[in-house]
Amino acid sequence: MGSIKLKNIKKSFGKDVIIPDLNLTIDDGSFTVLVGPSGCGKSTTLRMIAGLETPTSGNIYIDDKDVVETPPGKRGIAMVFQNYALYPTMTVRKNIEFGLVNKKVPKSERDKTIGEISEIVGLEKYLDRKPSSLSGGQRQRVALARAMVKKPKVFLMDEPLSNLDAKLRAQMRVELIQLHKKLGTTFVYVTHDQVEAMSMGDNIVLMNKGVIMQRSTPKEMYHNPQNVFTSQFIGTPPMNVFDGVLTNDYKIGFRPEKIEFFPQDKDEMFLIKGRVITKEQLGSEVIYSIDTKYGMVMVKKADDIEEENIILGIKYKNIFMFDEQSQRTVLSDKIKKELANMYHK
Ligand SMILES: Nc1ncnc2c1ncn2[C@@H]1O[C@H](COP(=O)(O)OP(=O)(O)OP(=O)(O)O)[C@@H](O)[C@H]1O
Ligand SMILES: [Mg+2]
Repeated sequence: MGSIKLKNIKKSFGKDVIIPDLNLTIDDGSFTVLVGPSGCGKSTTLRMIAGLETPTSGNIYIDDKDVVETPPGKRGIAMVFQNYALYPTMTVRKNIEFGLVNKKVPKSERDKTIGEISEIVGLEKYLDRKPSSLSGGQRQRVALARAMVKKPKVFLMDEPLSNLDAKLRAQMRVELIQLHKKLGTTFVYVTHDQVEAMSMGDNIVLMNKGVIMQRSTPKEMYHNPQNVFTSQFIGTPPMNVFDGVLTNDYKIGFRPEKIEFFPQDKDEMFLIKGRVITKEQLGSEVIYSIDTKYGMVMVKKADDIEEENIILGIKYKNIFMFDEQSQRTVLSDKIKKELANMYHK
């Protein structure tokens, strides 16, 4: 078991309110990712769950038990950090074993646990090495193994892959997803990288300035963003969002990958005249920046076109509309008509 509940959590440092009022339930056995820009309060939230930081007010429950007064070592959690903090003079085996020796677990049982866990994380061959002779990914696995021997109810991970190069990071992501499946333990994973969040979590919590902007599956985050912040945080390049396209105070948004060059079904589309300013070749895709009367529009397409002056078409179903408070709202037929008329203005 390992469910977590944060109830009316407030956290201030001095006069700065970092988290005004956070309410969050994390299901037992889920893989939940906390994502958001730098400084939004992800690590602080994780550290409060771990007991390394005390909330200014509010309650934290692990399996329905209020743990605010419970010291970190008694919460049944294990935390893996960005800098793995391994003991450099100890072998991999000793690093993994350390917590068990402290807990006075007998030698035979220790050996059995280390055998099992080093196999799960693929470290059997490296048990007698020192951390300095391991690659970044292998060190990360030692840190994981060291957390795993504690048999925690909850794994908390704070940007554990950010010291690794892009290729290894991609590999370790897959390994962590598999590890989660194997263990069935609750994982709470913090990252500022939306791609990492989208590829790993079954459940994403997007934060901004200590407030949850949206909580949903990765698919929902992308297809159904509930506000401008979410629409622009998820997806690369970010969604194009414009003020002042319409006569009223709405904002209009559309994704770079949903824009068509040389549009066909013109009746079903919002059309914009534009001029190609730059092209970025990414191999399988090209990113265009296109000057329009509304401002610069980013387009992502597989086709590499040579034309400079073009017409962009965006199907109405691919247009998002947001109200003055930047919350999602419906694109009515009246608005569609207004958009259709814009092309000739
Ligand atoms: N011990 C502290 N004393 C004062 N302010 C702090 C302390 N710890 C964090 N903060 C502030 O709280 C805010 C949230 O910090 P936090 O580390 O939780 O952000 P984060 O979302 O993890 O960011 P990053 O992606 O950069 O790691 C920041 O403005 C930070 O400066
Ligand atoms: Mg952080």
